[in-house]
Amino acid sequence: MAVEKHHVAEHFAARFGGSPKWIVRSPGRVNLIGEHTDYNDGFVLPLAIDRAIWMALRPRDDRRVSVYSIDYDQPGEFSLDSLTKEDGGWIEYLKGTAWSLQEAGHPLHGFEGVLVGDVPLGAGLSSSAALEMATARAFAVVAGLPWDPIAMAKLGQRAENQWIGVNCGIMDQLISAAGQADHALLIDCRSLQTETVPFPPGVAVVVLDTSTRRGLVDSEYNQRRAQCESAAEFFKVSALRDVSLELFQALAHDLDEITQRRALHVITENDRTLQAVEAMRRGDVAALGVLMDKSHVSLRDDYEVSSDALNAMVEVAAAHEACYGARMTGAGFGGCAVALIHAEDAEDFVQATAAAYQEKTGHTPAVYVCRATNGAEVVETSD
Ligand code: GLA
Repeated sequence: MAVEKHHVAEHFAARFGGSPKWIVRSPGRVNLIGEHTDYNDGFVLPLAIDRAIWMALRPRDDRRVSVYSIDYDQPGEFSLDSLTKEDGGWIEYLKGTAWSLQEAGHPLHGFEGVLVGDVPLGAGLSSSAALEMATARAFAVVAGLPWDPIAMAKLGQRAENQWIGVNCGIMDQLISAAGQADHALLIDCRSLQTETVPFPPGVAVVVLDTSTRRGLVDSEYNQRRAQCESAAEFFKVSALRDVSLELFQALAHDLDEITQRRALHVITENDRTLQAVEAMRRGDVAALGVLMDKSHVSLRDDYEVSSDALNAMVEVAAAHEACYGARMTGAGFGGCAVALIHAEDAEDFVQATAAAYQEKTGHTPAVYVCRATNGAEVVETSD
């Protein structure tokens, strides 16, 4: 169910009485191409999607933050003067973001609010980054801080790394903070420069949730990062971004076989991402689709972060004639795939792919067309 902004306002009125002063919205994301490249200083091409976290809020006179999560049917509260890490679930994302903003010297104010979202959890659509950026957007509007998407994304990433303890790159927070409606965003994860890339006419982006979730993601993720770092050390560069295919081919035989494959994925994926941007700009949807297909093969065989369910989903999606390209998206091991399709046939694609996947795996998927939306924003203000 798509969450509408009046729902949060209604929930706010029921819980706190009166109207919220602001409503903020912060989206999840799907990554078109450029996977496991962000922490290698590389390139990514995500879009912010029309699945988001919404927060309706009003300032308080004190330094407490009191938020009710509709999805968990649970209150959460903390003081900005005594932030301590606990095993508190969703509220830790708010605390961590508050901590990170204060560490950066931003003066914060307390607020009360309600929180609701329709970004599926653990699906690889960045529900945690959406929550961090919703929180940052809320603190910014309450305290009158300027909204600098890059700076805020870095603070959200810091919260995720140091408060939550997940060693993610910058992609998810940055696209949630800086997304642009109807566009994908090319992010250079070294300089953090972004470039909007419009979708060619007549294509639709489809999210294909395998409805499988895997527990081991964090340890596998950290292991891949470590392998990339050791490969960068071997090539004597600061990050794999700096290794060309030529350099790789000249020297890689001295690397162990697994590290070779990990590095090869990152090097070729960076190249595919830049090629994908060019293909989009010249409206060459077929070329873009081929790059997405190749990305999946590389993630499956060289980087080894796919899963049987993801492979099955990508296979059934690619077999449909409306499909230009399909691949797993996000960290992997479960969660979602993404497909680029001929928009006119979207309905048939969605139904046929969902049925074929269910038939093949026994899992009931969630398959839907998504729209590229703006990043975190204040959608309503009242006096
Ligand atoms: C997760 C991380 C991102 C990125 C992707 C893989 O979503 O949070 O920083 O590394 O995996 O591309």
